[in-house]
Amino acid sequence: MSSNLDIRPVAGALGAEIHGVDLSKGLDTGMAAAVRQALLDHLVIFFRDQSLEAPQFLAFAEAFGEPVEYPFVKGIDACPQIIEVAKLEHEKTNFGGIWHSDTVYLQEPPMGSMLLARELPPYGGDTLFANQYLAYESLSETFRKLLDGLTAVHSSAKADVSKTREDRISSSGTAEAGKEYLSFHPAVRTHPETGRKALFVNTAHTVRFDGMTEAESEPILKYLYQHQIRPEFTCRFVWQPGSLAFWDNRCAQHNPVNDYHGFRRIMHRITLKGDKPA
Ligand code: SIN
Repeated sequence: MSSNLDIRPVAGALGAEIHGVDLSKGLDTGMAAAVRQALLDHLVIFFRDQSLEAPQFLAFAEAFGEPVEYPFVKGIDACPQIIEVAKLEHEKTNFGGIWHSDTVYLQEPPMGSMLLARELPPYGGDTLFANQYLAYESLSETFRKLLDGLTAVHSSAKADVSKTREDRISSSGTAEAGKEYLSFHPAVRTHPETGRKALFVNTAHTVRFDGMTEAESEPILKYLYQHQIRPEFTCRFVWQPGSLAFWDNRCAQHNPVNDYHGFRRIMHRITLKGDKPA
């Protein structure tokens, strides 16, 4: 079945568009396996012109894992596993508007997330993605060895990211909205399916290394935050209504660009259960 997929890489580092698939018809086992392989090969995959009602979107997600609820924002009425990622005309911050991997402050961060474009601004609102295998592999051997031995501490309460959730929490926050989640994960994780090592710290959630103070950790983290998003590790996705992105949260970061003040951008998101990073 994989030979039937028309896979077109969008950049050297990561990202591929998959053409010729109508997701509303569902995926048979062979097609789901081919799409999963494309995700493992390209880290983030994109589909265009998909006309999916919420239950069809959910069925697509279920072909790849177990949809889980997002900790701070309630799901939509039709499907609680789907949250609305919105920025409205009068709002200034965009949800998750910072480089990050999703919810790494959880004990088991998601394996991946999917975003389906419902309403878009006339320009802007693209999403950037960055390959964290390349970020790790391009470091010197000595630095890689140092990082291999470190555990990073992540918090849901870092100010830069928690302010990007404020508008959505005020419109559809859960009872958990004020809670701080804290996790300890290897700074370099081994991808459970590909066996490759990926850098697993991010500027939105990582606060320090275990056994080190924030001040001691800061110079290393600051270096990594700018290194891991070097342009040659990234791709940029320009959305159209009906575009769907599916990213692997274990080896890719993302950052939605906030350059469309005065316009609405409405997306539907599904998050898939992950495992404990190792
Ligand atoms: C998110 O982090 O889920 C938001 C991504 C986007 O809006 O493009």
